Amino acid sequence: AIPVILDCDPGHDDALALMLATGDSRVRLLGMTTVAGNQTLDKTTRNAQRILALAGATDVPVAAGSARPLVGELTVAADIHGASGLDGPDLSLPVADLADVTAVELMRRLITASPEPVTLIATGPLTNVALLLRTHPEVAARLHRIVFMGGSTERGNTTPYGEFNILTDPEAADIVLRSGLPLTMVGLNVTHRALATTEIIEAFRALGTTPGRVSAELMTFFAGAYRRTFGFEHPPVHDPVAVALVLDPTIVTTVAAPVAIELTGTHTRGATVVDLHGRTGAAANVDVAVDIDVDAFWRLLLSAVATLQP
Ligand code: BDR
Ligand code: CA
Repeated sequence: AIPVILDCDPGHDDALALMLATGDSRVRLLGMTTVAGNQTLDKTTRNAQRILALAGATDVPVAAGSARPLVGELTVAADIHGASGLDGPDLSLPVADLADVTAVELMRRLITASPEPVTLIATGPLTNVALLLRTHPEVAARLHRIVFMGGSTERGNTTPYGEFNILTDPEAADIVLRSGLPLTMVGLNVTHRALATTEIIEAFRALGTTPGRVSAELMTFFAGAYRRTFGFEHPPVHDPVAVALVLDPTIVTTVAAPVAIELTGTHTRGATVVDLHGRTGAAANVDVAVDIDVDAFWRLLLSAVATLQP
């Protein structure tokens, strides 16, 4: 199985990404690290512990990471994810203890100890990942690649050109994008096609298990938030797409392209500037997701959740 670490800020769609990473045997989840983003760090960490308990994976170590972006103040997404960061389902489960090390230290230890190069999947702001690369540059050689949900080849969702994860910590994203490591970017241009339709939500509920019911309730809450905020008929379930392409590379099509982070734009800070047509002459630094097999994606997520039995 492919060894992975999931760095996230749960978050409704992060919760589904985590269930996918624990429910599909093609990956082995070595550990989870949390970051402030959708909500404050205490809440995203608690949510990560609750989802691991729900997935029956309390043996996976969890460590809390950065409480704020590298520069400036944190702005959470309570309008989308609620006051808890995971509003909707009742999730009062006994959880395992947190690791008594930081996220960066847990990642360093897991990457160093793994006999095979590790795939780092990030579904929140890139603060922890940037700190890892800056503090322990030697781990770079032990990473297979970094796959992150963030940015877009098109427009943003938090400002007209800023996607939430990148805009929350553009300096961290800039460090990761200029790291020279193999990178895969899963942006809104594909995740806005992974829509949890009513039929999809009912299929999760019909699994008849607690993880199935919680998934349905998470997507139902998410649907309300996306309807109110963006006028979407069905909510886009962003983060599991980043896990899906690691499990099955045929689900997402990528193209190699130069990507830069706008750090200073008057109106466009946090934009991912993707040179799809090679106009700048810059070298490609990212495999950029451009297409998704939506049916295959939902089949994968549904069958992974179906295996979970807390
Ligand atoms: C990203 O922002 C967060 O709200 C979601 O969890 C996802 O990672 C989408 O822009
Ligand atoms: Ca997220």
